[in-house]
Amino acid sequence: MEELEKYRDKWREVPAGDDMDGRVFSAGLLDLPDNEFLATWDRMAERRASGGMGWFRPLYRDFFAGKRVLEIGSGAGVDGIPMAELGAHWTFADIVPNNLATIRRVAALKGIDATFHLIGDDLSFEALTPGFDVILVIGSIHHVPYDVTRREALNALRLLKVGGRWIELVYPRERWLREGSMPFDKWGQRTDGERTPWVEWYDMEKIRRRLHPGKFRTILDFDLRSRDQRWVDFEYLGMGRDSRKFIDISGPVILEAGERDGLTFTGPKGAFHPIARIDLAPSLHALTGPYELEVALDVRQGVVGVGLTDDRNSYLADSELVLDSSPDTQTLTLRFAGKPRHLVFRNRHEDRQSRFTVMRVKIRESP
Ligand SMILES: C[S@@+](CC[C@H](N)C(=O)[O-])C[C@H]1O[C@@H](n2cnc3c(N)ncnc32)[C@H](O)[C@@H]1O
Repeated sequence: MEELEKYRDKWREVPAGDDMDGRVFSAGLLDLPDNEFLATWDRMAERRASGGMGWFRPLYRDFFAGKRVLEIGSGAGVDGIPMAELGAHWTFADIVPNNLATIRRVAALKGIDATFHLIGDDLSFEALTPGFDVILVIGSIHHVPYDVTRREALNALRLLKVGGRWIELVYPRERWLREGSMPFDKWGQRTDGERTPWVEWYDMEKIRRRLHPGKFRTILDFDLRSRDQRWVDFEYLGMGRDSRKFIDISGPVILEAGERDGLTFTGPKGAFHPIARIDLAPSLHALTGPYELEVALDVRQGVVGVGLTDDRNSYLADSELVLDSSPDTQTLTLRFAGKPRHLVFRNRHEDRQSRFTVMRVKIRESP
């Protein structure tokens, strides 16, 4: 199987420090004599520390010190080597041998102890000793298709301690929308240069889905670089509960306004116009809270609010999420401690009708 070949071929080039600095071929770096090689690499690391990722070291250096960190897709090592110098036990993992060779040479020249792992087509991490405190993924595994990434991420997750952290930099969905919603095999050429075979957007829900049945608690979730990138930091809570506690909700559905054809709804314009409700009472009595409700929606037109109301028809505080139309199915998760009565869909645009299909509604006990 040569599944990763075209990605390996692209990623012979790695970021040359800050995002603004373009790319450099690791083979080119390796051709340099030691003094030039190290001076070039040091400049790249300095650019990294003073550029758009300048917050990373101050934020994490004390936390990483003394911890075992597995970095997946470590590029030229401009994040990991400085952290290893400050006392972290770093494992660099990548799909490109020359990228790892670059970091190995930097580490040797600087007298830094580190571990290296070449990720093969089996996407395995079994050669590594389990018990990592952190798995760090900075703009790397989103460069292969979702099903490959999911296998890779789940293999890596086996090595993470319960209570450890999964930290990742991704490109958000709203960037993909802003840049034209193009297929992922085209979008990469726009985000990362013309030889890029793939890049895919991620948000919290999609990262959680990729790591399912792993359970996570969000520690950080923020935008970077004018919403071109997103940083997420999760605490790993272990593998999911008994899947029998996971219930598919199919109804009963009450239409409030507009039209309904199966689970496809057309709702009237008006920023708060209710369209439909699903009664949760039959599903909730089998579960104990807190709860998580997963809703997958195709919003073809307009803007739709998805929220929870109580027995008196009042919205539970902060329970509503609002989705804009998209060519893609969107998944959202509502988390709540109290017992809601209805899952409510309403129009959220003053001047536009909405049209959407409810693809899936599932409920489970929250971790
Ligand atoms: C855009 S670079 C980012 C490098 C580094 N994290 C940084 O921010 O400078 C992508 C890196 O991820 C690696 N990579 C791409 N796909 C990968 C995958 N599926 N698993 C592991 N590494 C991958 C590439 O070889 C490359 O080193």
